[in-house]
Amino acid sequence: MDTAIYPGSFDPITYGHLNIIERALSIFSRVVVLVAVNPQKSYLFSPGEKVEMIRETTREWPRVEVDHSEGLLVEYARRRQIHIAVRGLRAVTDFEGEFAMALTNRTLWQEMDTVFLMTRADYMYLSSSVVRQVAQLGGDISSFVPPAVEGRLRAKFGHA
Ligand code: COA
Repeated sequence: MDTAIYPGSFDPITYGHLNIIERALSIFSRVVVLVAVNPQKSYLFSPGEKVEMIRETTREWPRVEVDHSEGLLVEYARRRQIHIAVRGLRAVTDFEGEFAMALTNRTLWQEMDTVFLMTRADYMYLSSSVVRQVAQLGGDISSFVPPAVEGRLRAKFGHA
C-alpha cells in the first residue's frame, strides 16, 4: 500500500469524486486530493474555497490529505515522492484525454504512473460544469453534491 495523488479541478467536488476517493482509500494507504489547475479552464471557485469544501466533505476519512498546486502535477509528485496518480474514468469520451495526460506525465517523470478507477454507473454523466449550470439556474443539486457544497453554490449564485 502506497500514497496516491488524486488530482483534479474539483470546481466543485461532487459525489462522483467522493466515490473515487473512497474507493482509492481501499487500495492506497493515503490519498492526497490535489486541487490542480487546467489552464484551459476558468473556474468559479478559488483554490482556497475548493480546498475548504474538500476538507469539509472528506472529514470522516483521516487518511485523506487535501492540498493545492498551481504548477505541473509531476513537479508536485516528484517533490513529495508520490509515484501514483488516481483518475476516474467515466464514459469512453474520457479515455483519449486521460490516455494523453497519463502518457505525458510519464514522459515528464518516468517514475509516475496513473491508476484508473471506473466511475460508479449513476455518476457516469455527472460533471462539475453540469452541477454549476443546474445550480446557477436554481435547480436541485442535492443528488450531485454534499450539503456543504450545495450551500456554497447557492451562495455563489445568490440562491441562498
Ligand atoms: N465524478 C464526477 N465528475 C467527474 C469525475 C467523477 N468521478 N471525474 C471527473 N469528473 C468531471 C469533473 O467534474 C470535470 O468536470 P468539468 O469539466 O465539467 O469541470 C471533468 O470531469 C474533468 O475534470 P478533472 O478530472 O478535474 O480534469 P481537468 O481536465 O479539469 O483537470 C488536471 C485535470 C487539473 C488534473 C490537469 O489539468 C493537471 O494535472 N493540471 C496540472 C498541470 C499539469 O500537470 N498539466 C499537464 C497535464 S498532462
